[in-house]
Amino acid sequence: MIIGYDIAGVVEKTGANVTKFKAGDAVYAYLSIMRGGGYAEFATAKEGEMALKPKNIDCEKAAAVPLAATTAWQALIDTAKIDKGQTVLIHGGSGGVGSFAVQIAKARGAKVIATGSATNQDLLKQLGVDQPIDYETTKFQDVVKDVDVVLNCVRADTLPASYGVVKKGGVIVSITGDPDPAECEKRAIRCSGLMAHPDAKVLDELTKLIEANKIMPIVSQTFPLAEAAKAHQQIETRHARGKIVLRVAPEPKS
Ligand SMILES: NC(=O)c1ccc[n+]([C@@H]2O[C@H](COP(=O)([O-])OP(=O)(O)OC[C@H]3O[C@@H](n4cnc5c(N)ncnc54)[C@H](OP(=O)(O)O)[C@@H]3O)[C@@H](O)[C@H]2O)c1
Repeated sequence: MIIGYDIAGVVEKTGANVTKFKAGDAVYAYLSIMRGGGYAEFATAKEGEMALKPKNIDCEKAAAVPLAATTAWQALIDTAKIDKGQTVLIHGGSGGVGSFAVQIAKARGAKVIATGSATNQDLLKQLGVDQPIDYETTKFQDVVKDVDVVLNCVRADTLPASYGVVKKGGVIVSITGDPDPAECEKRAIRCSGLMAHPDAKVLDELTKLIEANKIMPIVSQTFPLAEAAKAHQQIETRHARGKIVLRVAPEPKS
């Protein structure tokens, strides 16, 4: 099995029923978790998993987008249905999914509170977070209350403490495990455990936001494919900043 669920590059060849893309198109895709195949010089993608690459970023940055940004979109837009003026708390705002979630929420006109360590407070501010919280010195439940939406992007013990900071009628979406239905019912909040899936329509929306400079991928490190293990060791620390990208070939000429 070849792992890897994000790719960016140039279309080499299309199948007989493909109408949206042609050889030579610069594209990016979120490959189905069932197939993978991204850690390779050549990969296959379905039309419904792929979109034209944003014109203002190279393949290295584009490869950082699909899975993480789609997850953030499906959590905040499709599931929580965030709206202008709402307040959103994002746990892990400096990570792969969190860094996109912050920017998507800001682009929707929400007020954003986000957690991260001391090291990442500057990044949170740079991404547009209105109230960054250093989880090493401050318990978020001591300084946050009555938010409309919580997006949980960390595996730490943040979910159990989140029920009490959401207003009645609010929403919790967790991408790292399901919220407790009894807690949610008791507090009259809508709760959801999300498993993201490829959706080319979401990628098209993300392309628009990136081309409008509303969101920008944060790539903290790039490794050659041969050093994929090093990249994974970095991810396994659970303290990666933004995304880590593997380069499998030189940047294609545009
Ligand atoms: N359900 C789905 O469809 C789906 C999709 C994608 C990812 N996921 C899962 O969601 C999680 C997040 O994914 P990711 O790619 O964004 O991970 P990631 O990039 O590895 O997240 C790392 C970030 O989390 C922050 N962090 C760690 N502990 C924290 C804490 N206690 N409070 C606040 N922030 C903390 C780190 O910031 P500091 O260094 O500042 O601590 C770091 O920037 C992973 O567990 C992943 O497996 C699920």
